[in-house]
Amino acid sequence: MKFLAIETSCDDTSVAIVDSSRNVLGVKTLSQVEHAKFGGVVPEVASRHHENSILEASLATLEMANLSVDNVDAVCVASNPGLIGSLLVGISFAHGVSLALNVPLIEVNHIESHAISAVINNENLDPPFVSLVVSGGHTSVIDVESFTKYKTYFHTIDDAVGEVLDKVAREMGISYPGGATLDSMALQGNKNFFQMPRPKISNFSFSGIKTWAMEIVKKLDPNHRNDLASSLVFGISEYISDYTLKIAKKLGRKQICMGGGVAASKVLRQTLAKMCAENNVNLFFPDVKYCQDNAAMIGIRGMFF
Ligand code: KG4
Ligand code: ZN
Repeated sequence: MKFLAIETSCDDTSVAIVDSSRNVLGVKTLSQVEHAKFGGVVPEVASRHHENSILEASLATLEMANLSVDNVDAVCVASNPGLIGSLLVGISFAHGVSLALNVPLIEVNHIESHAISAVINNENLDPPFVSLVVSGGHTSVIDVESFTKYKTYFHTIDDAVGEVLDKVAREMGISYPGGATLDSMALQGNKNFFQMPRPKISNFSFSGIKTWAMEIVKKLDPNHRNDLASSLVFGISEYISDYTLKIAKKLGRKQICMGGGVAASKVLRQTLAKMCAENNVNLFFPDVKYCQDNAAMIGIRGMFF
């Protein structure tokens, strides 16, 4: 079977075609650069951009896969969570295609898709596993018992990790989104120069960590920019990796996956990899291109409906 998948939950218009053997036959993601000048995603701008890009992305994907629309057996669409105006563009388009082709429409959860995105490039990977989802909008630890059974163990009660990185980066004068730049700076700094507070509560809270970093930025000696990035990115990575390992141990899981834009972080990958190795747990990452919002993961989740 061939699944046409659509992702428009935030600011990336992405369309993919995947088959039932988990192959990605084509994927086209049109990223929106307009938001950089506002320092964050503007929902109204995002929706209009999706509306202008969705057909172009769909046609480009079919061409990439060397398929015609008649080869599509089902349509998958990210339906929740996300910006309502953005989601509506994708959902309406997906409904239209499914009606016109008379094929099933499968609505997919965006976070569950991030949680299993590592299966795209790890073809022998199957649940059960624990997945750490870290993006600009979400931070959670999810137990994936099967491709259709998900249980969230921990989630952020305020800011998501990516949001903290982007906001601190902006305060440091780095253009949006600043997560990747902070990650590179972190590798050149001294992670012990500043002491990031590590909350000991039962759910992730990153708002206090953001305030801590923002206060330091206000009086930061330019010579210690990399040290702040390092203390923050390593601090958060150690904190969430530790949590993820604890959940995996509690549930007896021997596999951990990562997903979401921040899963591209070299510091986080390195930190979690070290802890997994020390605990005899296998760790799986998605390719960097499948960390950020993309429709391939929506198709993969959708095929297990
Ligand atoms: O999953 P995603 O593309 O969109 C959301 O669903 O939010 O994640 C975007 C987030 C942004 O906060 C961005 O700064 C962060 O992922 N990000 C990174 C890296 N690449 C993207 N954070 C740390 N290191 C990176 N290499
Ligand atoms: Zn996402």
